[in-house]
Amino acid sequence: MFPGSLGHSVIGKALDDRIFNLEIINLHDFGIDQRGSIDDEPFGGGPGMIIRPDVVENAVESISHKSDKISKVFLTPSGEKLTQNKLKVLSKLDEMLILCGRFEGVDQRAIETLGFNEVSIGDYVLSGGEIAAQVLVEGCIRLIPGVLGQPQSLLEESFSNNLLEYPHYTRPKVWEDKKGNKHEAPDVLISGHHEKIGRWRRDKALERTKNLRPDLLKKGL
Ligand code: 6GU
Repeated sequence: MFPGSLGHSVIGKALDDRIFNLEIINLHDFGIDQRGSIDDEPFGGGPGMIIRPDVVENAVESISHKSDKISKVFLTPSGEKLTQNKLKVLSKLDEMLILCGRFEGVDQRAIETLGFNEVSIGDYVLSGGEIAAQVLVEGCIRLIPGVLGQPQSLLEESFSNNLLEYPHYTRPKVWEDKKGNKHEAPDVLISGHHEKIGRWRRDKALERTKNLRPDLLKKGL
């Protein structure tokens, strides 16, 4: 599953250019007993299998030259929700160790003893943490100076100043769809009047945020 989406587009370019590096550790290389198991049934009963704490410890120890100091994130739907502000903090780290959950979960003792921060990418459930890890890494890497061609876009995008971003338009000015209906781009954007454009965009950003994400206006991120 790696580099997966991280091998493409601007993030893939950053990976090729060694702006960041990915080292993938396969938990199956740290299985125990003759069968190499990495999981077992949950104590107390219930569905699914739980990743064993000793397996996680062995995997973390395999980078023992730095396993004490490195920031550790365990991706789980029961973690603290990832926000743009947290991405900004995480993007400043030199290194991060990301544990992707699979099956029903990971033994909590490993999470606590090894010092993992539990992070969720949103209020929905995925079957594994790998895609969440790509979300986390992509979100961090694009914030590293020089990764995006147009650093200006970082200032105006959604969640900067706790607003959703304003809508965008391009040519043609009048678009006739296949049903024959005509749709005109807003005149103000073609006016060349930068002050008016700025005001229009701020209004639209506020309107969208009120309609779609009123929570952002109340408590921020
Ligand atoms: Cl981090 N992992 C999984 N499996 N599901 C999720 C998630 C993470 N964040 C939201 N849903």
